[in-house]
Amino acid sequence: MILLNFPYTCRFSTTNYYKSMSNLWVKKPMKVLMAEAEGEAGGLKRTLGATSLVALGIGAIIGAGLFSITGLAAANNAGPAVTISFIIAAIGCAFAGLCYAEFASMIPVAGSAYTYSYATMGEFIAWIIGWDLVLEYAVGAATVSISWSRYLQKLLGDYFGIHLDPKITLSPFETATNAAGETISGIINLPAVFIVVLMSLVLIRGTRESAFVNGLIVALKVAVVLIFIGLGWSYIDTANYSDYIPDNRGTWGEMGWSGVLRAAGIIFFAYIGFDAVSTAAQEAKNPKRDMPIGILVSLFICTILYILFAHVMTGVANYQSFAGQDGIAPVAVAIDHIGHTGPDGTIIPDFPWLNKAIIIAILAGYASVIMVMLLGQSRVFFSMSKDGLLPRVFSQVHGKFRTPAKSNLLFMLFVSLFAAFVPASVVGEMTSIGTLFAFALVCLGVLVMRYRMPDLPRAFRTPFVPVIPILGILACLLMMLSLPLDTWIRLIIWLAIGLAVYFGYSSKNSRAQKENT
Ligand code: ALA
Repeated sequence: MILLNFPYTCRFSTTNYYKSMSNLWVKKPMKVLMAEAEGEAGGLKRTLGATSLVALGIGAIIGAGLFSITGLAAANNAGPAVTISFIIAAIGCAFAGLCYAEFASMIPVAGSAYTYSYATMGEFIAWIIGWDLVLEYAVGAATVSISWSRYLQKLLGDYFGIHLDPKITLSPFETATNAAGETISGIINLPAVFIVVLMSLVLIRGTRESAFVNGLIVALKVAVVLIFIGLGWSYIDTANYSDYIPDNRGTWGEMGWSGVLRAAGIIFFAYIGFDAVSTAAQEAKNPKRDMPIGILVSLFICTILYILFAHVMTGVANYQSFAGQDGIAPVAVAIDHIGHTGPDGTIIPDFPWLNKAIIIAILAGYASVIMVMLLGQSRVFFSMSKDGLLPRVFSQVHGKFRTPAKSNLLFMLFVSLFAAFVPASVVGEMTSIGTLFAFALVCLGVLVMRYRMPDLPRAFRTPFVPVIPILGILACLLMMLSLPLDTWIRLIIWLAIGLAVYFGYSSKNSRAQKENT
C-alpha cells in the first residue's frame, strides 16, 4: 500500500539519493522527481490537455482583481493610467511566469513552487514555500469567497428583492446597518461558506469534471469581458483621458507616477492564479510541452483583456466617478455610462441588462477562481505529504474519483473557517504577500538550477538568464515592500507556526531526511 502511494520508493528502494551538507538543506534529487513526473502520477489521473490548462489559468486569474479592484485603483491611485499599472504588474508577473514555465517544463510534478525549491534550494526552503503557498491558495480562496458572498447579496437584493440578514452574511468583526437604521454585527458569513463547500465537492468529484465546469465558467466570463469591451468601445469619450496620469495629490501613491506604481501593487491581485496551472502538472497529459503553454498563454490572454477592459472602463466614465464605489460598483458605474444622453441631460444606459450579466459572470467567475485555488492547495499538500513532510491523509487518493478527497475535505473546513469568520481585508493582503514571496523564490530557484544543473534538459528555457529572474525577484520584493506592516507581521506569524510544524513533525518524518541518514 505504502509502495503504491510512494511510486519512487519502489523504483529506488533505499539507496541514498539524497545528498547534502546538512539535513536542513537536503535536496530532493532530480532523478526522483523525473521518475515521479514520468510515473503513474501517484494515483492522480492524467486528463488535462493544453486547452484545459490554459482554461485552468484563466479560471484562476480573472476575478475580483479585474471586476472590483480596477475601479478602486483608478479612482484612488492611477486615474486612466491604471492601464499602465496593469502593464507594469503584467511585466512583473511575466518574469515570474517565465521562470515558472522553465521549472514546470523541467520538473512537471504536482506541488509547483514547493517541488521546484525542494530540488534546488533544499528541504527547509521548500517547506517554507509550501507552507507559504497556503496563503496564496487557501487564504486566497477564502478572500474570493467573501467577495462572492457580497455579489450574491447584490444579485439577490437588486434583482430578486431578497435581503439576507447581515448576521449570516458578515464575519463577527464586521457590522452593517439594516433598513431600520440599526447597526447589526455579523455572526457568520454563510454564503461564503456555501461556495467553498460547493467548489470543494466539485473538485472531489474529479479533475476532468472540475476542468469541464471550469471551462464553461471561463467561456462565460471571457465572453462577458469581451462584450463589455466590444459594446463600450464606441462609447469611449476621449475627454476622460485628457488627464491620463493625473497630478500627484501630495501623498506618495495618490496619482502621478507613484500612484501608477502603487496601483500596480494593488492590481497585482488580478494576476494571481496563473501559477496554479503548475500545481496540476501530474494531471497533464503532456506536461513538458503543455505546462509552459498553460502558464504563459493564460497570462498573456488575461493581460490583453485586462488592459482593454481598463481602457474602456476609464474611457466611458471618468475615473473620478469610481471614487467611493465598493465591490461591484465600479463596473456598474461604467455600464451606466454606456448609453445616450436623455432630454434632461442624464445618461440613459443602452444596455441595462449588461449589469445583471456582469454580476452573474462575476459570481461564476469567482467560483472558478475558488475552485482552481482549492485545487492548487490540495496538490501542493499532496506533494508535501508524499515527501513525508505532512501526514499521509493529504496524499490519500479516493478509490473511485482518484482525487485527494480527504485533503479536499480538510481544506474545505479550513477555508470555510476563514470565509465564515475573517473579514476580506485581512485575508486579501495576506494572499498577495504570500504569492509574491513564492514568486520571488521561484525566480531564485531558476538561477540556482541553471548554476547547479546547467545541462539538464529543459523543454522551455527562460530567456535572458540571469536578467529575467533577477528582475523578477526585484519586482516581487518591491511589490511586497509596498504592503503594510501588519501584513508583514501576519506573514511572519504564519511562517513561525510553519517552523513549529516543520521541527515538530516534518523534519522527523521527511523521507529525504530518513534516506540521508
Ligand atoms: N486573480 C484572482 C482574482 O482576481 C485571484 O480574483
